[in-house]
Amino acid sequence: MVYDEAMGCVRCPLHETRTTVVFGAGNADAELMFIGEAPGANEDKQGLPFVGQAGKLLDKLLAEIGMERRDVFVLNVLKCRPPGNRDPHPAEIESCQDYLWRQVELIEPTVICTLGNFSTKLLRRDGTGISRLHGVEEVRIVGGRAVRLYPLFHPAAALYTPRMLETLRTDFRRLPEVLALGPPPQPRVGAEPALADGRGLDAAPALPDVGGASAELAQPDLLGPIPELEPEQQSAPIERKPAAQLGLF
Ligand code: URA
Repeated sequence: MVYDEAMGCVRCPLHETRTTVVFGAGNADAELMFIGEAPGANEDKQGLPFVGQAGKLLDKLLAEIGMERRDVFVLNVLKCRPPGNRDPHPAEIESCQDYLWRQVELIEPTVICTLGNFSTKLLRRDGTGISRLHGVEEVRIVGGRAVRLYPLFHPAAALYTPRMLETLRTDFRRLPEVLALGPPPQPRVGAEPALADGRGLDAAPALPDVGGASAELAQPDLLGPIPELEPEQQSAPIERKPAAQLGLF
């Protein structure tokens, strides 16, 4: 189970300095997911994501649109705190990302808000920065499924920059509208390698030589537009997986 695996993870050296693995928390059946960067000192102590000042701001912004933590699922790109809150290293992201894909696959969110540059770049497989992308939703394949990706400034960055906070608030206010769009059309099963994230690529028969997520990162040309849909798939209901599979409840 992904939870058990992550909680005992020793894939990268961060396990030597962490206090707790911060797996993620919230509603495992949520339509809306937030993906931050990495646990900070408070998160590392408590084992929960966004419990410090940035988390308080996230709660406030959620409250302003009539939502709370229990309505959403919150997680990070890295499950362990980088010492001194330094930026995540590429090798750490590489070894940790598999947990993230599996979490997305299990929770099956409709909308994913990436918070800041690290999660935005990882989920978009592209180096474009958050300043150019925030507040604009797009359909992307994540964890083998189409989701509405809605990048936002990181709340920690907005804490000390009033103009950024205003932008974050404006973008947040559009979230109900983005959620109301509902689930995007899903790609055809077993189809094009260009559509999948790393895990999807593993399974894509058309490209047997292409490995996991790192292989895809090295070949940005493999990323492509959303696939053609079978007409009957366009309104197919999404079958949700039991929250218990996440090992949280
Ligand atoms: N910043 C993050 O990106 N994640 C947390 O959990 C806390 C602060």
